Amino acid sequence: MKVTIVGAGNVGATCADAIAYRRIASEIVLVDIREGFAEGKALDITQTQTTLGFNTKVVGSTNDYAKTAGSDVVVITSGVPRKPGMTREELIGINAGIVKGVAESLLQHSPNAIFVIVSNPMDTMTYLAYKSLGLPKNRIIGMGGTLDSSRFKTYLSLALDKPANDIQGMVIGGHGDTTMIPLTRLASYNGVPVSQFLSEEALAKVAADTMVGGATLTGLLGTSAWYAPGASVAYLVDAILNDQKKMIPCSVFLEGEYGQSDICIGVPCIIGKNGVEQIVDIQLNEAEKALFAKSADAVRNMNNDLKS
Ligand code: NAI
Repeated sequence: MKVTIVGAGNVGATCADAIAYRRIASEIVLVDIREGFAEGKALDITQTQTTLGFNTKVVGSTNDYAKTAGSDVVVITSGVPRKPGMTREELIGINAGIVKGVAESLLQHSPNAIFVIVSNPMDTMTYLAYKSLGLPKNRIIGMGGTLDSSRFKTYLSLALDKPANDIQGMVIGGHGDTTMIPLTRLASYNGVPVSQFLSEEALAKVAADTMVGGATLTGLLGTSAWYAPGASVAYLVDAILNDQKKMIPCSVFLEGEYGQSDICIGVPCIIGKNGVEQIVDIQLNEAEKALFAKSADAVRNMNNDLKS
């Protein structure tokens, strides 16, 4: 199975590394616009083969899309990340042009690929890819919910002082500091609602920390994070290539689901070899429904900036 990742920067290269050493694909092509950069990252990752024990072929390319031909999954991480104090939304002007051009070049060489969009503002970039490529909605997947949910489970694990892998939880809605919705009501520790262990105040703090999870790291690192984002992309690519039928919150095009249409926003999806195989309609309570509608309004406003 072949995966192309465009953008060999922090997120793209970390994700390529994880896909390689976890043997998720047999071939990875890294593409970047910076002369020699993707080739360098590919060679560096290849030189971990003998110490980490994998055989994945990793190839780099400076904007030569012929090398990406026949990819099963293509991942778009090209674009500008945010700096401290910036919102994801402020990146729209620069990243829209990059994502559209890259997506069209990828489709030319891999007409059957499933597209994973990572560049921010991710919901709007996913919508842009959906609208400009004309592919069926199951083949355009925005990655944000995997990362936000893993941050949510991390903060729950810290508050509970229990292993993160014993915790279940999901973040839906937009992939933005004020638009994401950590579903605290449905989070559990081995199936037992976390509300049995944590006070309302403690749960509210977990939700608030999750929502600014990315901004906290941007403040600490001086640029946006890459280990958890890269691993989250690899997790999603694994679910597609290995037909895992995992339930993962992803940004997908909605046609009436959750009361929304003509928008890409995070909802729980079953992910397998066909990409989005099912949108799972979970029963939200009235407060959650109101948050989802507000989140969708904000994402829709951002989508309007694409037209200006
Ligand atoms: P980075 O700056 O380290 O890497 C971006 C790479 O894209 C650079 O190497 C750059 O040369 C390349 N690039 C720019 N224009 C290109 C083009 N036209 N063709 C090919 N390559 C091109 O940035 P980083 O940290 O990897 O972030 C990438 C994007 O992912 C940003 O938009 C960031 O906001 C977003 N992001 C999204 C997350 C999510 O959960 N959806 C999580 C973290 C980052």
